[in-house]
Amino acid sequence: MAEMCRGKRARSPSPPAPSLPSPPSPPPQPCPSPAAPATPLLPEPLLRPSSPSSANDIAAAPPPRLPSGSPPLPSASPPLPSPPAFPLPLRHVCGPMVGASDLAFRLLLRRHGAQLCYTEMLFAHRFLSDPSYREAKLRTTPADRPLVVQFCATDAPTLAGAARLAAPQCDAIDLNLGCPLPSATQPPFGAALLAREHWPLVGAMVAALAGATPLPVFCKIRLLESVEATVELARLLEARGCRVLCVHGRAVPPPREHRAQRQWPADLDAIASVARAVRIPVLSNGNTRCGRDVQLNVDRTGAAGVMSAEGLLQNPLLFEKLDEPSPRELGEAALEYLRLAAEWPPGMRVVRSHIMWMLGKSGSAARAHFAHSGPFTSQQLRLALLGAESVAQFEELVHLTLLSDG
Ligand SMILES: Cc1cc2nc3c(=O)[nH]c(=O)nc-3n(C[C@H](O)[C@H](O)[C@H](O)COP(=O)(O)O)c2cc1C
Repeated sequence: MAEMCRGKRARSPSPPAPSLPSPPSPPPQPCPSPAAPATPLLPEPLLRPSSPSSANDIAAAPPPRLPSGSPPLPSASPPLPSPPAFPLPLRHVCGPMVGASDLAFRLLLRRHGAQLCYTEMLFAHRFLSDPSYREAKLRTTPADRPLVVQFCATDAPTLAGAARLAAPQCDAIDLNLGCPLPSATQPPFGAALLAREHWPLVGAMVAALAGATPLPVFCKIRLLESVEATVELARLLEARGCRVLCVHGRAVPPPREHRAQRQWPADLDAIASVARAVRIPVLSNGNTRCGRDVQLNVDRTGAAGVMSAEGLLQNPLLFEKLDEPSPRELGEAALEYLRLAAEWPPGMRVVRSHIMWMLGKSGSAARAHFAHSGPFTSQQLRLALLGAESVAQFEELVHLTLLSDG
């Protein structure tokens, strides 16, 4: 979480009380984040002023006016009943990642503290119509639970049909409302559905999902143009049957900047405003870089838990260790992943990508630099990784870069 790790942009004068007990460790200190590049400043249009007025408006909204002649309200109205406890663990959540949420990686994360994992985003229409797509994209095993299957979709019946097919193999269905790709606009899916004109369709999709299977419906959104608008959408999703809302604390990035944007600070105060405004559990997503960030995040946002994506790619031990892992610990995790990948092969492209992340890759695969390159220059290591075609070759590279003491 760049914002906390780098001590930037504290925007919340009085953080909400933590919703979960603190771990039995000293007060958390932010982790340094050497593997991540320096946080660029947010471009002005995306800077979000803290909006205590909106949050306070929500908290201190006046009670509804009674029609004249109604009996007076009791002076101390009884508290709202608490929602039933949510049946799935939500504190440590591994987010959906195209090309990186493979079964082997999910199993690795579960062994190291992840309580709930998502699949990558699946296309509902293909899932419904193409058995080979289903088989390739939804590979799971009993140790891979609880599992959230994430779909993107452009209409409610297709989404509901896909959910029915996925239901026997998972514990919840998530609707992707955050994919920022330009191709997601015609017809709209992902973040394109966040435009207000599509809210009726989004509401119908969530309601269709809620009726399609007994499984809880999750939604994953980004921030909208204002905290008020985000809260309004969150309440709509809740009213239509969403049971867990994940808020990625960044707005839709400008075209071609979605990769760079993942390094920008997440707006935790906006997430806190949403968490205060709905009764369903909220997952806080954005820039969790080390174990200490988890507690800092839930303290600040009041969220039920933290979803991490890129932080877990760089450090699969994130939910297990408060501090950055040593190269040896990373190397052991990389070997463990490779053993799982031998058992549950995701394809060499996916394996290569994971090993690159664990070696501290920055930049695109074709021009990557590595924080852990052992005896190699970054260019030599990149070429060796691009040329590796078997698990054994990747193991050798892990030994040379992360596990050799020399
Ligand atoms: C390689 C990669 C693939 C991603 N694919 C998806 C996806 O399929 N669905 C989705 O909702 N978000 C996807 N995301 C976004 C993440 O789930 C997450 O919202 C985002 O990276 C911010 O969290 P982070 O700062 O912890 O990385 C992806 C992120 C990465 C790094």
